Amino acid sequence: MKIMAFVGSPRKNSNVDTLMDKVIEGVKSKTDVEVEKIYLYSADIKNCNGCGLCSPLMGNRDCPIDDDMPGILNRMIEAEAYVFGTPNHVHTMSSAMTNFWARLQPLGKMEVIRDDSGKIIGGKSKPLIMGKKAVMVVSQGDFSPSASALLLRVLDSNIKDFQLKKIGEVFSTGNLEKAQVKNNENDLNLAFTFGQRLAGG
Ligand SMILES: Cc1cc2nc3c(=O)[nH]c(=O)nc-3n(C[C@H](O)[C@H](O)[C@H](O)COP(=O)(O)O)c2cc1C
Repeated sequence: MKIMAFVGSPRKNSNVDTLMDKVIEGVKSKTDVEVEKIYLYSADIKNCNGCGLCSPLMGNRDCPIDDDMPGILNRMIEAEAYVFGTPNHVHTMSSAMTNFWARLQPLGKMEVIRDDSGKIIGGKSKPLIMGKKAVMVVSQGDFSPSASALLLRVLDSNIKDFQLKKIGEVFSTGNLEKAQVKNNENDLNLAFTFGQRLAGG
């Protein structure tokens, strides 16, 4: 099995990273796995500039930006499952994770639907990564779960757009300090369990 883990926190070995490692540990406990972990803040992933070349209106062309993304997209097509991890930053995903989803758009392969007059009336897509499994990891400082209501909705919507199969969501609250989640046995266990499920166990 090959999985890719995308760390959307700028802090290595902190809350998101720790929970993601637990998911990976869960996968490893069930199967032989090749893991590629990508720190979105360290990788060369430039901002989407909205050129639109990857949109159906411009023929779903490849992204012209020269950075790590074309290789990542190819490897995502080969992988079987993903782990997406992000902290809550100002009520939503981190900026790196938001940009990452924007840069995934070339995999979307959307087609527009037009009426007889040529007016766009909808769209349908057949993403190149459809059906692959995904676990989400979210950590926030606030103790109230509602603080990430928007974030979780945005993440779910993106997972749905790409027709990924969501295996589970590790949502950890009250982690304001760096790596604080290392003391939270419940959430670490939950992450491990979702890892096992990602492996099909
Ligand atoms: C710029 C910034 C904005 C944040 N905004 C929120 C927020 O709106 N709500 C919240 O609950 N926590 C917020 N936090 C706290 C983080 O979500 C929390 O500390 C999280 O556990 C960080 O994960 P990490 O240690 O993996 O980076 C914010 C942290 C930063 C740095």
